[in-house]
Amino acid sequence: MDLSAEELDQVINLALDIIDNPGNYTEACRGKKLATLFYEPSTRTRLSFTSAMMELGGNVIGFDSAANSSVSKGETVADTTRVINCFADIIAMRHPIEGAPLVSALHSRVPVINAGDGSHAHPTQTLTDLLTIRREIGRFDNLTIGFCGDLRFGRTVHSLIKALSRYKNVKVILIAPDELRLPAYMKEEVCDRYGVSYTEVASMEEVMPELDVLYMTRVQKERFLDEEDYDRVKDCFILSADKLATAKPTMRILHPLPRVNEITVDVDADPRAAYFRQVENGKFVRMALILKLLEWAKDPSNNARLIPDDATRNKHYCSNHKCICNNENVDTLFRPDRANPSQVRCVYCEAKPKK
Ligand code: NCD
Repeated sequence: MDLSAEELDQVINLALDIIDNPGNYTEACRGKKLATLFYEPSTRTRLSFTSAMMELGGNVIGFDSAANSSVSKGETVADTTRVINCFADIIAMRHPIEGAPLVSALHSRVPVINAGDGSHAHPTQTLTDLLTIRREIGRFDNLTIGFCGDLRFGRTVHSLIKALSRYKNVKVILIAPDELRLPAYMKEEVCDRYGVSYTEVASMEEVMPELDVLYMTRVQKERFLDEEDYDRVKDCFILSADKLATAKPTMRILHPLPRVNEITVDVDADPRAAYFRQVENGKFVRMALILKLLEWAKDPSNNARLIPDDATRNKHYCSNHKCICNNENVDTLFRPDRANPSQVRCVYCEAKPKK
């Protein structure tokens, strides 16, 4: 299910309570099991889910690469999900194929959390980012936030911009080379429709003084088909301590990590560098999310919210070769484009249909 603004706030507020009163939660998931199904590399996300469940008194099972699971024998996401349902109370899935966690959720009796699907989305990183903004800046409204680096393949950017579109007067500044600009669907559907004003600029220096948050990202090497294309853009924007001279003292630098070279290590000591504090927020917010999802799962109508009401099975095929509907035998599902209802978009990955 997609969380409403109200549900997002509930998760963030619960995370804040967990931070203040950790002792109240040490038995909250006693006897429950989380399955972490990670078909792609991860350090922070998987280990923060694991430590979140452990701090709630629960247990964790799972695998950390596709090679270590039956997918290497050709098992579908749907079948793996049915199997894991026999063992676990809640699932966190990371998958290189876009829409795979949604397909899993459609076949699951227990909540499935998307822990990152291809270049599409990374909603629990967004919860982490929101909790960090709340703790570091104190508000979500009236924010100017610069996104820098790989805005095309960086799934954390897509999910965070969507979440910020629920708040008032958010100004987004996009700082990326031409090859790595924010996908059109994000600009048209999310920014234009929900009134997030955005500008695209060519350097971080020119906007540094106005930023409340600078969200740095890694160029997503693994999503490039061609190594030369990656080499051309890999060093495009590098934040070093000297570039912070004109930034507000209250500005905060976020990064979902891992960092490659886009933030030099001389920035780490600056109090505005919030990226390692951000990691710890990821654990607290995942604790809150696990608790809330286990609570919401008691109401079956929440499962009905997985597919939008106006979605249809129809003659279209998805144009995205990395979408689950082009990789496994699942129904193609399309919903109206929110900015232009005469067009449709894939429910799994949000791409347009094949022409
Ligand atoms: C991000 C991801 O996996 O998308 N990492 C994370 O989960 N914190 C960002 C990245 O890999 O660059």
